[in-house]
Amino acid sequence: MAYTEVKGDALRALQAALGLEAVQGDEEARFAYGHDETEGLSFPPAVVARPRTTEEVAAVVRICAEHGIPITPIGGRTGLSGGALSVFGGVGLALDRMNAIVGIDERNLQVTVQPGVITQVLQEAVSAKGLYYPPDPSSRGSCTIGGNIAENAGGPRAVKYGVTRDFVLNLEVVLPDGEVTWTGANTLKNATGYDLTRLLVGSEGTLGIITKAVLRLVPLPKETRLMLVPFSSAEKACEAVSATFRAGVTPSAMEFIERDAIAWTMKHSEGLPSQISTVPGAYLLIEVDGDHADALMRDCETILGVMEAHEAGEVLFAQTSAEKDALWRMRRSVPVSVKAHSAYKEEDTVVPRYELPRLLAGVKEIGRRHGFCSVCYGHAGDGNLHVNIIKGDLSDAFWEHELPKAIREIFQLTVSLGGTLSGEHGIGWVQRQYMDIAFNTVQMDLMRGIKRAFDPQGIMNPGKVLP
Ligand code: LAC
Ligand code: ZN
Repeated sequence: MAYTEVKGDALRALQAALGLEAVQGDEEARFAYGHDETEGLSFPPAVVARPRTTEEVAAVVRICAEHGIPITPIGGRTGLSGGALSVFGGVGLALDRMNAIVGIDERNLQVTVQPGVITQVLQEAVSAKGLYYPPDPSSRGSCTIGGNIAENAGGPRAVKYGVTRDFVLNLEVVLPDGEVTWTGANTLKNATGYDLTRLLVGSEGTLGIITKAVLRLVPLPKETRLMLVPFSSAEKACEAVSATFRAGVTPSAMEFIERDAIAWTMKHSEGLPSQISTVPGAYLLIEVDGDHADALMRDCETILGVMEAHEAGEVLFAQTSAEKDALWRMRRSVPVSVKAHSAYKEEDTVVPRYELPRLLAGVKEIGRRHGFCSVCYGHAGDGNLHVNIIKGDLSDAFWEHELPKAIREIFQLTVSLGGTLSGEHGIGWVQRQYMDIAFNTVQMDLMRGIKRAFDPQGIMNPGKVLP
């Protein structure tokens, strides 16, 4: 598809709509908004547009539609699949100025936000009212709700509470022709027509731009217990995961971390309990939450029984809230610690949770055959394994030509186990080439039809999701 450059009439129209200072074409802005957290990619937009209101977003989209200019919505730039990269240049539509919490409805346990609200800022605002917004990506201190919705982000708490999609009730969206619409109703149930809300969630900015979201909240649990469980065998740790649910407990987090990830992360973490070592092959970090101490005690006892039956070492309970914070800081810093260690590629495989041991074993076997090392961690309770392939001393030629074949095998294995390519990071720019493993031509044609129905001109975040 041939797109128009951002200059002349189009540029002047954008400047008139937003004001000169909100349309930035300087190198610094273009490069700052030209990357996310996906390793090694930079695609600067021709200009960065930073609207403040829904009307301004609609004005930008109308101008781009009229001139055939591609638009890439940009949130906190923490994405791991390149969804926010302006791969065809055009307008990078940064939503960071639209960061208001419009209102917390305590009677209905709902909150209305603009897309640029930082996830942690929202969590803290509702927690001050005794409410809880559980979706909790590691990047919660800098990722935004708009980006979380676009990618259907998850995080550790999804295992009990659900992913972002399970908290979105209604969305205000600017469609690719500049029309503004809501997708549904602010209700907990809705059997009225096609579910446009759920379709928009996870559509990675390819169907429209989210300008407001009504989100569901739950009461903030009063208590948590957090334990770190060492295993000499990473596969045994994975086996203990599905056994825990079968024993009748649903933890509020059940995270898996392999030894090397712990080792690299400990260098960046302070205040960790001194008993943590890098001797075990893997750890499970398990949290339970609730309002009643005795019920939590019973859950912990059940979990300890399951862990013991799976040859766990000595379980470490966080004794203080400072220790809990330190353990969670350690878990959240795994991605940055891997990044600091080496160039890497991150896959976001997900399988039905009982298949997790087989996925892990298969990933290691593929690594041995192709000659790469991987460090795995992730949301074991969801069967969601982040496979980090470490570049280390591997040649650039291997990385470019051989590795994609190995990644293809990992995804084929994942799908053969009943799983799929991405649990929470999205397909974006970097995983499109593998979509044929998860979907046949009938399914891909349906998706292309949806894309065309929303965006016949193909200007909205082109180059993403669909191969
Ligand atoms: C995590 C991000 C990378 O789980 O999804 O830390
Ligand atoms: Zn994750």
